[in-house]
Amino acid sequence: MCGIVGHIGPQGSVEIVLEGLKRLEYRGYDSAGVSFVDENNRIQTYKKEGKLQNLVNSLEGKNIKSECSIGHTRWATHGKVNDTNSHPHNHESISLVHNGIIENANDFRSELVSKGYTFKSETDTEVFLALVTVAMDDGLDFREAIATSFKKIRGNSAFVVLNEKTREIIAVKKGAPLVCGMHDKNSQVLVSSDPYALVGLADKIYFPEDEVMCSLSGANQNLLSFTELDGTPSKRFISKVQEMNFDPTDKGDFEHYMLKEIFEQPGLIRALSQYYFSGDGESRLEKISKLNPRHIYLSACGTAAYAGYVIRDYLEKFNRIVTTVELASEFRYRNPIIGKEDLGVFISQSGETADTLAAQGLCKEAGTETVSIVNVEGSTLYRECSENLLIRAGVEVGVASTKAFTQMCLTGRLMSFAMSGDFKNEAKRKEIVDKYNLLAERIDEVLDNEHVIKEIAELTYNKKGYFFTGRNHYYPTALEGALKLKEIAYVHAEGYASGELKHGPIALIDEEMVNIAIVGPDLYEKTVSNIQEIKARKGIIISLGPKGDKELEEMSDYYIPLNYDGLDELMPIYVNVVNQLLAYHMAKFKGTDIDKPRNLAKSVTVE
Ligand code: AGP
Repeated sequence: MCGIVGHIGPQGSVEIVLEGLKRLEYRGYDSAGVSFVDENNRIQTYKKEGKLQNLVNSLEGKNIKSECSIGHTRWATHGKVNDTNSHPHNHESISLVHNGIIENANDFRSELVSKGYTFKSETDTEVFLALVTVAMDDGLDFREAIATSFKKIRGNSAFVVLNEKTREIIAVKKGAPLVCGMHDKNSQVLVSSDPYALVGLADKIYFPEDEVMCSLSGANQNLLSFTELDGTPSKRFISKVQEMNFDPTDKGDFEHYMLKEIFEQPGLIRALSQYYFSGDGESRLEKISKLNPRHIYLSACGTAAYAGYVIRDYLEKFNRIVTTVELASEFRYRNPIIGKEDLGVFISQSGETADTLAAQGLCKEAGTETVSIVNVEGSTLYRECSENLLIRAGVEVGVASTKAFTQMCLTGRLMSFAMSGDFKNEAKRKEIVDKYNLLAERIDEVLDNEHVIKEIAELTYNKKGYFFTGRNHYYPTALEGALKLKEIAYVHAEGYASGELKHGPIALIDEEMVNIAIVGPDLYEKTVSNIQEIKARKGIIISLGPKGDKELEEMSDYYIPLNYDGLDELMPIYVNVVNQLLAYHMAKFKGTDIDKPRNLAKSVTVE
């Protein structure tokens, strides 16, 4: 979705906004633009279709001096990808950027034209600009004009509006992400659609709730203030200290963020159990331990939904609570039978996925307790849920989610443990910690053997299609493995329950089709017989199976030995790391944009 950055502070405002936009490139976009108040107090705007670099090139040699600017990376929804439809959009003394969709934009166009407004673009965003412009022409001040216009529109949107006369930025949102930041020492104030853009620039960050107006002003005024739409002061925001010295924009020795994030997993796993058993997370788990729902609904999208399948197995195995996984985009329209005795659990890396937020809202309306398993503290999902479990994955830049999946599953396992009644049992806690450390160790071994996976990828990346198959606990891993490959290698891949292939899809098998077969120690014979069915039809077999299994190695074209010993319910998470590396290396051989795959956005804030 679109990226937004606004800044007011000492000189260099445009450079800071461009740096922030650079950090948001990972979210996916198709054009970029910036507006700033120049030395003559006039708004200047530059915007370009294509990569951010095109915008930077257009600013080359302009010797810009500005203390107040806003920038935008656009992921087109309404209107073609071109310079005119790029943001910011200007009219006289104001310029604005937008993330989201105005669902009733067309209701206002003809009236605005009759009031003398001339549209320049095809975007819904410009309708908001026109509403604000007309309201100011009718005598409302800057803040009132924005508030009045904002009340009229429908849909999930965040707007950041710059006024050259007052050198002020006002931001407001509903159902879309917005975060403000302040750095007292060098008295700068910022706003963005993603906290990640503010890392290192703001030592305190603020998450306003829906319909709270955030006013950013210059150093000689009140840097940052919050009001309700009616102008009264607002306290509807949460704030937290932001790590200043951590710079996630550094890939270190890795060629891609995705690979860096795959390699971060063992360390994150070891830290997670510490956080929940001897850190700030313990109180979070304590609250969860008191829940005793009749039915649990796990709702999410994409990779997060597949993590939900892994967590469902834990809740049903260890807690014997009926648990269903609901794709959020379906759940929200299914009119589900949910009530106060149930529990809604919402899984999300960003905490801003529109469908997941809508599903949570549905449960909240039904009086169902809602818990998040989320990465971004202060995100919309975090604020909307009654309890929150943080997955502690750190900033995940790669659009294709890797470490977040692992941390979601493991946080879900801790949730199950907390609800098992053993929460205070030190011996049981130690078992969990030891198993997490063992998992980290085994993943380290997989990472140490990355070259084996790379060699297999080189021999198989150019085939017609890919089936990831797994039975029972490995079915979610098959789904997730296929999604990774689709996302970054742009090849057709499907995750299938091994036992399902013979009910039709096996018709697709031929010598150009690859089967990545996940073979666990359980249901072994049945899984192996599924492999033989595919082999009999000339399918290429990459098997991920128990180490030292000569029979499996014999029947496979490629065999990746796995050491499952002692991992038990964590095995699917362990196997998944092999698939992460397989997808990464296949994509690398295909030469795709691994960190910013085409058509994708890191956080899908539209429906
Ligand atoms: C995962 O690799 C994808 N980027 C996508 O499926 C993602 O998991 C999904 O959009 C949900 O995002 P969230 O976890 O931020 O809610």
